[in-house]
Amino acid sequence: MTQSTKPIEVLVCIKCRREGIDSEGETRPGTKLLNALEGANPPASIQIKAVECLSNCSRGCSVALRGPGRWSYVYGNLDEKLAETVLEGAAKYQSTADGLVPWRERPEHFRKNCIARIPPMEA
Ligand code: FES
Repeated sequence: MTQSTKPIEVLVCIKCRREGIDSEGETRPGTKLLNALEGANPPASIQIKAVECLSNCSRGCSVALRGPGRWSYVYGNLDEKLAETVLEGAAKYQSTADGLVPWRERPEHFRKNCIARIPPMEA
C-alpha cells in the first residue's frame, strides 16, 4: 500500500484562553502553538493555518486536521510544548488515504484528547 502525501491542513485556533492559566494581554497559547508549528518547518504539504475558534474553547488550545476526501478531527488541551506531537499526528493523518489513523498508532495526546471527528463529504 502506498502512503498518501496529498496536502492536508492543520487549523490552529489562535483565540483560546485557558481559564485560570492565561491572563489578559498575554500572547494567546494558540498563537504560541501556531508559531511553534511553523517554526518546526513542516513539509509544504502540511499546511498550518490560523483560525478563530473551533468551538472547543473550554478545552483549548484546539487544532483541527482536515483534507479532501478525509475524515476531519478536532483535538484539544494543546499548547506549544506539544507542537511536535501535533506534527507527528498530522504526518500519520496525511499518510492515510482517508484520514483514519489506527487508534494505537495515534500520538497518546491525540488518543486522550479527541474532541470530534467528522466524516468526509461524499462526492
Ligand atoms: S476560542 Fe479557541 S476554540 Fe473557541
